[in-house]
Amino acid sequence: MKIVITDNYEEMSRESANFIIKSLLSENKKMTLGLATGNTPTGLYKELTSAINKGILGDNIIYFNIDEYCDIDLNKNGTCNKYLVDNFYNNVNIPAERAIYLNENNYGSYEDMLSKLGGIDVVILGIGENGHIAYNEPYAKFNTLTHVQYLSETSKLQHGEEFGGKDKVPPTAVTIGIRTIMNAKHVLLMASGDKKAEAIKKALQGEITEEMPASILQLHPNLHVVVDKEAAKLL
Ligand code: PGA
Repeated sequence: MKIVITDNYEEMSRESANFIIKSLLSENKKMTLGLATGNTPTGLYKELTSAINKGILGDNIIYFNIDEYCDIDLNKNGTCNKYLVDNFYNNVNIPAERAIYLNENNYGSYEDMLSKLGGIDVVILGIGENGHIAYNEPYAKFNTLTHVQYLSETSKLQHGEEFGGKDKVPPTAVTIGIRTIMNAKHVLLMASGDKKAEAIKKALQGEITEEMPASILQLHPNLHVVVDKEAAKLL
């Protein structure tokens, strides 16, 4: 595991972008990049947009999202689809065949699709205040592949504002599983702010347990963590 502690959010975003660029440029073949959503990676997508528009990241990269809410119009605020369109896809010229959207209708064939692409090269992860990664909530089984997950009250509270209130957060989401994440060649874990400090401490230095989904990442052979100093303050 490599941990990079940055002074602030902007530096976290830049460091993360550099890591992704380095990892994706290392091979001259089709590469896959799993996209997290939320407040954490917004600055990263600005950096990646600039790298794509300068031709640093080329047309061998296939992008896909790693989770999505169920039972909601995907053009609505709060959804992962809308977030990625607004913060990434609208600003870059990526043809539809290189932008794959996970949703409740296609999740059953997602693992097959990823396998056919040669698996995941890099997956970007934020972390929930309760330790969720993608939308694998506490007590999600470590051996799960892409599946539907009931959301915890903590996660609904954390993301309520994006939907105009906690009660408007859909009850379930589709998510790549813990096993899907552990099968990725590289994992980038990002966190910013002291609200994430406890989750980061438990994830990186605590017991490996399904109660804290991110703790399994300690066993990943290529885990790269980029956190700002507030999120790192308990390490
Ligand atoms: P955030 O969400 O980036 O908005 O903090 C991360 C998450 O809940 O996984």
